[in-house]
Amino acid sequence: MIRQCIDDDFETIYEIVNDAAQAYKGVIPGDRWHEPYMPRKELRHEVDAGVQFWGYYEDGDVQFESTALVGVMGIQDVKDVTLIRHAYVRTARRGQGIGSKLIQYLLAHLHARSTRPILIGTWAAATWAIRFYEKHGFRIVSYEEKERLLRQYWNIPERQVETSVVLVEVL
Ligand SMILES: CC(C)(COP(=O)(O)OP(=O)(O)OC[C@H]1O[C@@H](n2cnc3c(N)ncnc32)[C@H](O)[C@@H]1OP(=O)(O)O)[C@@H](O)C(=O)NCCC(=O)NCCS
Repeated sequence: MIRQCIDDDFETIYEIVNDAAQAYKGVIPGDRWHEPYMPRKELRHEVDAGVQFWGYYEDGDVQFESTALVGVMGIQDVKDVTLIRHAYVRTARRGQGIGSKLIQYLLAHLHARSTRPILIGTWAAATWAIRFYEKHGFRIVSYEEKERLLRQYWNIPERQVETSVVLVEVL
């Protein structure tokens, strides 16, 4: 089941992000890696800045009617565009179609709501993530366009601009 996350999910989102972000270790530039990859304070800041997390929940223990969150993806309206932010699926559940279901759901949700362009930024070195987004209808923009878009719509350090790419949905 996919639905918007609630405040009570904060700790689980924190866990999932930092578990899944282990994929970056040794891949992204060393000076950009730190542990935890996203401290609670930064995650809280993202939520306060308007990142709306959606989650993929699985049926858990029927007896306790619990459900387990296994993947998250955020959306954030910034100026005249929407950004897809912080896409993470638990390491143990990667490659099982959960990320695809989440992004397809969010794209349908966003298309039903508006015609704002949808942008994604990620590490240039995260080739698997770039492939994932390309498979879902995004293309990498030129170097010049990336430089412009990251400064216009993201609030990230200069070093991260250098080491990132931007993808835009092809309609
Ligand atoms: C990127 C990410 C969110 C994608 O989520 P996911 O659930 O792994 O994605 P999917 O399973 O839908 O698709 C990923 C791959 O698994 C494959 N796959 C899909 N269903 C599968 C299945 N049942 N069994 C095996 N593989 C499967 C897909 O074909 C795809 O392969 P490819 O892109 O290498 O060709 C996730 O891998 C992740 O958290 N990665 C680490 C953090 C990260 O890079 N986040 C992006 C930040 S912007």
